[in-house]
Amino acid sequence: MTEPTSNRRTFAIISHPDAGKTTLTEKLLLNGGAIHLAGQVKARGAARRARSDWMKIEQQRGISVTSSVMTFAREFDGLGEITFNLLDTPGHEDFSEDTYRTLTAVDSAIMVIDAAKGIEPQTRKLFEVCRMRNVPIITFVNKVDREGRPVYEILDEVADALALDVSPQSWPVGMGGLFEGILDLASGRISRPEGDSREFLGKVDYEPVPAEFAEEIELGQMGYPEFDLEAYRHGDLTPVFFGSALKNFGVAELIEAIARLAPPPRPQPSSNTLGEAGVIEPTDKEVTGFIFKVQANMDPMHRDRIAFMRLVSGTFKRGMKLTPSGSGKPMAVHSPILFFAQDREIADEAMPGDIIGIPNHGTLRVGDTLSEANKVRFTGLPNFAPEILRRVQLKDPTKTKQLRKALDDLSEEGVIQVFYPEIGSQWIVGVVGQLQLEVLISRLEAEYKVAAVLEGAPFDTARWIKGSDAALRDFAEFNKSNLAKDRDGDPVFMARSVWDVSYQQERNPELTFSATKER
Ligand code: G4P
Repeated sequence: MTEPTSNRRTFAIISHPDAGKTTLTEKLLLNGGAIHLAGQVKARGAARRARSDWMKIEQQRGISVTSSVMTFAREFDGLGEITFNLLDTPGHEDFSEDTYRTLTAVDSAIMVIDAAKGIEPQTRKLFEVCRMRNVPIITFVNKVDREGRPVYEILDEVADALALDVSPQSWPVGMGGLFEGILDLASGRISRPEGDSREFLGKVDYEPVPAEFAEEIELGQMGYPEFDLEAYRHGDLTPVFFGSALKNFGVAELIEAIARLAPPPRPQPSSNTLGEAGVIEPTDKEVTGFIFKVQANMDPMHRDRIAFMRLVSGTFKRGMKLTPSGSGKPMAVHSPILFFAQDREIADEAMPGDIIGIPNHGTLRVGDTLSEANKVRFTGLPNFAPEILRRVQLKDPTKTKQLRKALDDLSEEGVIQVFYPEIGSQWIVGVVGQLQLEVLISRLEAEYKVAAVLEGAPFDTARWIKGSDAALRDFAEFNKSNLAKDRDGDPVFMARSVWDVSYQQERNPELTFSATKER
């Protein structure tokens, strides 16, 4: 742990709504001594007054539509200071691609589970995204201050539902009314609830486990594997911690685990100008990074956007010239937002694993690689097959140009995906969650002054198709009415059903139909 890149821990929390992500985030920041909350900075002054309507949706529903970055740092014995970058993911059931993409920018994840509910649908979906990229996961079973399910039942459910080895690191001594505290299995200490609120107030007792629980715990522990760092880092095993975010139990242990177990910045898969695959190591000298999210203007008059770049290698310095793969034109990054800046001033330096907010006017797109020499491209930032497709119908037909511009912009940001059919003039938008459609309509009105309605589309899903020019031409000849181009001009098969996809795949073995498009 001596390399300069190794004191960063960049992670996200995945959970089903209500499991306690927000409460845990607050407690992590409190315990960790938060330096800076990204969302707060941008809500200051004029920008706050100019928030557009989609922010109102966010407020009305009390949800966070956009992700942000929270950074905190703490000293650990033997490790020195560790800087944590916590990337927030939207906490609504109706999540968007934002959530997925944010997971491409982290090195590990915390999976929060409600002790009474176990694995819920969104936890599972987000887990699958982590698995696709071998993102290591620490499990936090929350709300043990309330009546929950038996501990072994929860552990077995995680193991069975997610096909993961589980290795308990702590154990609740009783739950609900009988809650006596959390036993740390490594040290054998129990932290006990104190005072009227029965919260954890920071003191750790060294009392033995009460006899009525001791045997149960010993028996319960049997049959679970010991912690294995390699297996965890590879995404095959999850260490499990029990606690209560509300009462602050197990949170300090969780932070300690992230510091000691969670991986430092990982090498990122890339390709070079010849298309040969490789990896960029965090220790490489050249500054490189990729954009995983673009957050639109808080101020609609000035089309300004913040692109969030995950730094992959090199030491970024303010004013540095980087070339985005999309535009190919070098740009000087004069006013980066560095989220660990102590006093909200613009900071000067960032290390691999850090997130840099780059203000721009639409030149930076989700999936762009930024680098000094413009010779590498990061791979593996996927576009997901939309699950909901809608036709966009203009209320005022003279606004076609504005609509096109708006759809291009919003798809660049990853709010929606847009498909331009080969036949017909009605553009189609695709999303993975209903909420994205509401965001689309309100932003079209607020920021582009375009009134539009969404109508059902005769398609159910879309697949990016790849193959030789000849194979694509043959396919197009028979399927013109099902063909569209995405915003990059790449061919997409608009399918009436998933069955339709497999039918076409069988008939056209020389083509591939993919549900994701890697940029
Ligand atoms: P989310 O972000 O994952 O959606 O969950 P959030 O933290 O908002 O927590 C959802 C509810 O669960 C909140 O209660 C919160 O107080 C409660 N909660 C979170 N952690 C714990 C815990 O460790 N123990 C217990 N007993 N409850 C917990 P709420 O009633 O919906 O909101 P509020 O009125 O309490 O804020």
